[in-house]
Amino acid sequence: MLNIALPKGRLGEKVYAMFEKAGYECPSIKENSRKLIFENPEKQVRYFWVKPSDVSIYVERGAADIGVAGKDILLEYAPQIYELLDLNIGKCRMAVAAKKDFYDDGQSTLRVATKFTSIAAKHYAGKCRDIDIIKLNGSIEIAPILGLSDVIVDIVETGTTLKENDLEVIETVVPISARLIANKASFKFKTAQIEDITEKLKAQVVYDD
Ligand code: PRP
Repeated sequence: MLNIALPKGRLGEKVYAMFEKAGYECPSIKENSRKLIFENPEKQVRYFWVKPSDVSIYVERGAADIGVAGKDILLEYAPQIYELLDLNIGKCRMAVAAKKDFYDDGQSTLRVATKFTSIAAKHYAGKCRDIDIIKLNGSIEIAPILGLSDVIVDIVETGTTLKENDLEVIETVVPISARLIANKASFKFKTAQIEDITEKLKAQVVYDD
């Protein structure tokens, strides 16, 4: 059995559809909305739904052989896994945003609110910019509005959240998309099956022009 961790939610449904088209279907997954683990012995696969940000933990520790995680999580936590394929879905960008009238004088310590402290720290270290990181767990957009921070480093997908809160992107830090990842030992011992899935998924990837 190949254990596959899928990110629960809208992205996970797109991801499963790709596995299905790749020939690794598991019909029971569509029957029950509360169950979390599904098997198809005929195809030798077992799928389980986990919180998107936890996929890399399951894969790194070997509870899952492969999985699909956002590049944001891989950059932030740097799990010891192999990144096998860019699925080119779940696309968004990590960006710095601020209130429309914000001007960075480049002098005083910049207060940065974010869930992604490591990505933010690296970004500003690369510019030799002094920052004070304020770790938040959600609704990051509120921070500059209430004066808790000068800027935020967060995921921007459609841009609607920023727009509706009168914020704007100052710069893009890195583009993000969903990646197929593998546990290192699993890749060694289940090479044929993992490579077969990777190849078949690759044939499902829709590239931009
Ligand atoms: C993410 C992100 C932004 C929003 C961006 O939040 O943190 O708030 O999506 O999407 P948009 O550009 O399409 O508006 P999420 O829904 O993950 O919730 P969070 O507030 O817990 O981070």
